[in-house]
Amino acid sequence: MNISHALLAEWGLSHIKLKKEMIILDVGCGGGANINHFAQIVTSGRVFGIDYSPTSVKVSKEVNKKYIEEGIVEIHESSVSSLPFEDKIFDVVSGFEACYFWPDLINDLKEIHRVLKINGVLLLVNEGYKCENKEIRKVVENWAKLGDFKLHSPEEYRNFLTKAGFTEIDVYEQKEKGWITAIAMKQKG
Ligand SMILES: C[S@@+](CC[C@H](N)C(=O)[O-])C[C@H]1O[C@@H](n2cnc3c(N)ncnc32)[C@H](O)[C@@H]1O
Repeated sequence: MNISHALLAEWGLSHIKLKKEMIILDVGCGGGANINHFAQIVTSGRVFGIDYSPTSVKVSKEVNKKYIEEGIVEIHESSVSSLPFEDKIFDVVSGFEACYFWPDLINDLKEIHRVLKINGVLLLVNEGYKCENKEIRKVVENWAKLGDFKLHSPEEYRNFLTKAGFTEIDVYEQKEKGWITAIAMKQKG
């Protein structure tokens, strides 16, 4: 998972600017590669990860052992629907290949909105969306059926992010690959 998602993650991350003092949460952290990437950048900040799979949490902890021991990284077993954090803690919340699995997308995004600071940024990066390219669309629709996840169009991204309370929404497509990145801001609440 870590290797196959690396190029997608790199492209998604190229759309935001990270600073060394930031506090970041990666939701659905999987194998922990993105946490590891963040930990190398936020040298005076912190990185948190959550995943509801005990196996993912275990692997993420192994991959980030050094940073956990240094007190930079913390990883918890948790659902996105009920995050184990107080309000307004994070500068950035990321979800790589994650949001299309979430059980109650708008409420789960509201939960992320709750833990973001004012002017905090949400980054969603996904391989597979309702794209215009018919060939790619056919392939990803098949994946979605097999993997039991939902695909969304760029317009649907804007709509569900707006309904969850986000503003300043930008959606980027990598049309040749069928990748999508959405960036949104918490400006109040
Ligand atoms: C396709 S993997 C992506 C992992 C990682 N973000 C990456 O890009 O390699 C999706 C991850 O989301 C987690 N996940 C799915 N639904 C979740 C939920 N409701 N709450 C927390 N984690 C969830 C899964 O356990 C899995 O580790």
